Amino acid sequence: VILVLLLLMVLITCKRDTSLKENHKGSPPSFFLIGNMMELTHDHLPIHLTNLAQRYGNIYRLKCGNTTMVVLNSSEVIREALVKKWSDFAGRPVSYTGDIVSGGGHTISLGDYNEEWRAHRRLVHSALQRCCQQSLHSVIERQALHLRKVLMDYQGSAVDLSEDFTVAASNVITTLAFGKEYNKTSSELQQLHSCLNEIVALWGSSWISALDSFPLLRKLPNPVFSRLLKEVAKRDEIIKEHLNNYKRLTDIHVHMATVDLLIGGTETTAAWLNWTVAFLLHRPEVQTKVYEEMCTVLEGRYPKYSDRHRLPVLSALINEVLRMRPVAPLAVPHRAIRDSSIAGYFIPKNTVIIPNLFGAHHDPAVWSDPYNFKPERFLAGGGGSTRALIPFGGGARLCLGESVAKMELFLFTAYLLRDFHFIPPENKASLPNLRGVASVVLKVKPYTVVACRRPETNP
Ligand code: HEM
Repeated sequence: VILVLLLLMVLITCKRDTSLKENHKGSPPSFFLIGNMMELTHDHLPIHLTNLAQRYGNIYRLKCGNTTMVVLNSSEVIREALVKKWSDFAGRPVSYTGDIVSGGGHTISLGDYNEEWRAHRRLVHSALQRCCQQSLHSVIERQALHLRKVLMDYQGSAVDLSEDFTVAASNVITTLAFGKEYNKTSSELQQLHSCLNEIVALWGSSWISALDSFPLLRKLPNPVFSRLLKEVAKRDEIIKEHLNNYKRLTDIHVHMATVDLLIGGTETTAAWLNWTVAFLLHRPEVQTKVYEEMCTVLEGRYPKYSDRHRLPVLSALINEVLRMRPVAPLAVPHRAIRDSSIAGYFIPKNTVIIPNLFGAHHDPAVWSDPYNFKPERFLAGGGGSTRALIPFGGGARLCLGESVAKMELFLFTAYLLRDFHFIPPENKASLPNLRGVASVVLKVKPYTVVACRRPETNP
């Protein structure tokens, strides 16, 4: 029954509500997605939303079931909503399934904007800032050196590095959260990751989002939803066990902040590293340039985060991968807390706002040749503007892990490119497919790579 219902919704295509289109300074142009399934089952929703922007402008409305969403597609309108009018748009939509995965809205990422949420975010933010100043650098260095050893042990064979990147990113977070790191074969780590991955993938699936837009569907059996409930229970059991070691910290907020750091901090960083290697296979000369820059500036030593201003080619690479593939391409939906406006259009209270970061990063009005990977655009005179780069969102909901992530991206990439150059496996005629698959996190399709040791590397 559920399948038939969903198929019916897919068959009903999106219709544009022309009556609202020309209503300048009224509502933004609008589409009614009577069934949003066509959009949601699209394997790359950000590209689809970006294409719609080319036809209908940088701000338009989508109506899905009983939910109205406004999609923002340029850094200018995204900044207006998230930064300039942050206090109007800092809310999160409350949804049936969101409540289930966030323990009743108690995560920072999905919790709605209120005093309790502000205190919660402040607490975790100050703890992360302390980590950044004190121990984070050495925690990342340790993981980067471990990654180096893992890559050397592959001895030039063709491998898929995505799991190793996940372990490295995850160990940074588990060291911060639990004071514990794992190796790749640890069953505890595998359990934790398969559970977190499942939750993110299931929650992003149309079988689950349909429950938010079409409440009637909740009454029908839904095996995907049952799986989600099982994985959420498993996740909570694993985290409770860890926090039991710190009895006084069993409060729901601490529990959910840990969920935030693990979910927010693992898949994103790992996906970004995987994208970097994939792009470098397409543009091998960029690897050489980064390597040569490090040789000149660092004279053989490993980099520190404080070296970043002296390594513009490496920084340009990091920025360009963040631009091309913002790993949280549609950020996390916001909610208008009160009536407001964006780009002169009226936005009523409770409207859901989708910041299309992918769209903003491919806006032809801002970026020349936006679909081409060109790190050199971020070098002096290259025309790339870091101001228009918004991979971490902005304002009250700016990514909580931005400083952790930036240090990780810099150190992991610098360590990897100092000791290895990456080449495609000999038997593979094709390079990695760079289109990606977008769910909550935008990932590259699996590919294999050979990590060749630089001859100059010290043993
Ligand atoms: C939220 C991007 C890494 C924790 C977000 C958002 C984006 C983002 C776009 C949504 C902002 C919004 O709602 O407007 C990224 C990228 C990363 C990354 C591109 C790495 C390449 C991390 C890390 C952590 C983290 C390492 C944890 C240490 C969070 C949390 C939120 C968040 C907790 C929710 C913030 C809130 O709702 O107030 N991130 N992130 N992220 N991120 Fe990240």
